[in-house]
Amino acid sequence: MNTQEIDALSKQKAYDLYDSGAIHRIEIGTTAGLQTIHRYLFDGLYDFAGQIRELNISKGNFRFANALYLKDALRMIEQMPENTFEAITDKYVEMNVAHPFLEGNGRATRIWLDLLFKKRLAKVVDWQQVDKTLYLQAMERSPVNDLEISFYCKTR
Ligand SMILES: Nc1ncnc2c1ncn2[C@@H]1O[C@H](COP(=O)(O)OP(=O)(O)O)[C@@H](O)[C@H]1O
Ligand SMILES: [Mg+2]
Repeated sequence: MNTQEIDALSKQKAYDLYDSGAIHRIEIGTTAGLQTIHRYLFDGLYDFAGQIRELNISKGNFRFANALYLKDALRMIEQMPENTFEAITDKYVEMNVAHPFLEGNGRATRIWLDLLFKKRLAKVVDWQQVDKTLYLQAMERSPVNDLEISFYCKTR
């Protein structure tokens, strides 16, 4: 399967996650919940669907959490507060820095973020309104400055 086929199939699985109601059974704000989302999106597409990586990865010149400390980091992130918009975006930025999967972190973690906003603030991000290029730039800068990403994650 090539990348475009995987992208199309995982997109369909993302719709199914909501349409089937499976989204309502996902644990919110935890690593296990994020793994469930990832497994759902990439089951049959990646052999590591839902599995925490054991290799180190980077994007651009940013190295995500070292695989040796990843499980500890994930336990800390799970315990981060999620009671305000600021706290939730902080937690999201840290989960992105952890980047628990070899591929598909962006897609799985945005759904994880939306579940947090919905549960805690009764709001969601309208991703259609988010400029992809600006969002990606904000994510690239988020490990040092998370103000921009909280701007792009405006909820409604
Ligand atoms: N240089 C970077 N530094 C930090 N985060 C980044 C960087 N580049 C991309 N990201 C984040 O990582 C995500 C891409 O991770 P990836 O595992 O490839 O997910 P997906 O395959 O779903 O796009 C982006 O959506 C963005 O949130
Ligand atoms: Mg990717």
